[in-house]
Amino acid sequence: MCSIIGYLGNTAASHLLVKGLKRMEYRGYDSVGIAISNNDKIEVRKGVGKVAEVEATQSLQALDGHVGIGHTRWATHGEVTSKNAHPHKSSTGQVAIVHNGIIDNYVELRQKLQSVGYTFMSETDSEAISNMLQLVYDRTKDVKVSMMETVAALKGEYSFVAIFEDGTLAAARFHEPLVIGLGKTGYFVSSDVLGFAEHTDEVIYPDNGEIIVIGSNGLQFFDFSGNPMRHHITKVSKEFADAYKGDYAHFTLKEINDQPESMVKAGENHLNEMDKIVGLLRTSKTAYLTGSGTSYHAALVAKHIFLKYGKLRIEPIISSESRFYPDYFDEQSVVIALSQSGESADVMETVRIARSRGSKVASIVNIMTSSLVQESLHSVGLNCGPEIGVAATKSFTSQLSILYKMCARLSTDFNLPDFAEISGHMVETIASQRQIQEIARELKNASDIYVLGRGIHYPIALEAALKIKELAYIHAEGLPGGELKHGPLALVDSNVYVIVLNPSDSTHLDTLSSAHEIKARKAKVIGISDKQSDIYDHWIRIPHVAEPLSPFLEIVPIQLLAYFAAIEKDADPDYPRNLAKSVTVK
Ligand code: G6P
Repeated sequence: MCSIIGYLGNTAASHLLVKGLKRMEYRGYDSVGIAISNNDKIEVRKGVGKVAEVEATQSLQALDGHVGIGHTRWATHGEVTSKNAHPHKSSTGQVAIVHNGIIDNYVELRQKLQSVGYTFMSETDSEAISNMLQLVYDRTKDVKVSMMETVAALKGEYSFVAIFEDGTLAAARFHEPLVIGLGKTGYFVSSDVLGFAEHTDEVIYPDNGEIIVIGSNGLQFFDFSGNPMRHHITKVSKEFADAYKGDYAHFTLKEINDQPESMVKAGENHLNEMDKIVGLLRTSKTAYLTGSGTSYHAALVAKHIFLKYGKLRIEPIISSESRFYPDYFDEQSVVIALSQSGESADVMETVRIARSRGSKVASIVNIMTSSLVQESLHSVGLNCGPEIGVAATKSFTSQLSILYKMCARLSTDFNLPDFAEISGHMVETIASQRQIQEIARELKNASDIYVLGRGIHYPIALEAALKIKELAYIHAEGLPGGELKHGPLALVDSNVYVIVLNPSDSTHLDTLSSAHEIKARKAKVIGISDKQSDIYDHWIRIPHVAEPLSPFLEIVPIQLLAYFAAIEKDADPDYPRNLAKSVTVK
């Protein structure tokens, strides 16, 4: 999604803003801009591209002044153009804003503002905010009142930061993240702690539905009706300031390589919380797992493990679908939300629906300061450090690790896996990256890739296809092996690659039959297995492990394959086009 940042202090704002935006590019990276208020004037510089590119052409850091705002965009309303890039000034130029989220009633607001003489430069929903602020400010000359009347007029989910010509910084939060950093030189307002983490570890998390004003009276918080609010200062972990890729060419490659360690550590510092969630699973009548994208795939693996080995039925729900099935949840339900960011709008909506129906909500999440943790009764941390690459890698295996640890606590029939051993096997798998790189060279020209897996391997087939789409921009589909003959086989010919997830376990022979069916139609077969077969055009060997543990190993070569295919295609694996790491709009 978009990232927003603001700074007011006694040092030059522009370089702090640019640095913060670089750290938050994972949230959106199609265009960038900053605005600085100086000597009663607001100046804006912006452009299309990533922060470093726009910085090079627009000299963002050359803007002078101690108060400013900045933005990286993930387009929702309006194409990726310089005009649509944020910040957006009001038409008379005394207010500028950066916005994350969606203003549902922007068309109506726009018409109302146009009818009283305001003009619009962009196609965005966001510009309605700056003109609305200006409308009230012209009448009242009061920043707080301008903010209150503006939020009263807005419908949707948003956070925004505004600067006023007089040098006041103001912000509002409504169902989108916003955090205040208390630095030595001044105040930060940001979508994420990463925006300022190297300057301070003292933060305040405003509640949903709050206005923040930073000006001559210092830092003030109000609810949307204007009542003052008070907050405690929270100390955040310095670890999240430490997002460097070291010697690796990309964050994605580093994060794939982190897995042998991160997967072992997952959840280890929240064992009490883990027990509490297991307690909820024991006492609830119905149990659900919810998540989006990769996190949903972890839920699908968990369904299998809990049912087959823990004898407990947990229903996975794709978060973006939950609003159409609100009857799912009731007072006797527990909903466990899986999310790396803890900010995905679809996940947050599911949690709100569940809570409104009296269900108990728990979460498994990486960012322990996120909105999801605030809405959960109990949360277990992935504990895998920052994941910057937009395509989830280590967060997936850490989610699996925690879910397996929970299953082992729940059921005496399911032994705690030997994570140290799996870790050693992961290292071996990663060591075969040269061979995987060779295969990626060939694969980069494929038009379609099918990934087949039966049983526990099916969710991994879905996750594999997602990685290939996200990173390598190749059409890919994950299929349960047996479904091939019910349709997809019609598409299989010599231009197609099929990856079979085929360890030597209960699914092996059936999947081998599917491989034969594919080979008979002249497609190329890549086998991921501990066991060689002549049917494979390429065999990627993974170590032999017990059936329920193979997800940890079979996903790793696919992550590498997708990563290297992206490199072969000259795509940026850390920031795939059109995507964002944390999608905070519906
Ligand atoms: C976005 C990302 C995906 C991620 C999904 C869920 O779509 O591009 O990689 O799996 O969000 O994110 P979450 O932070 O909720 O796990």
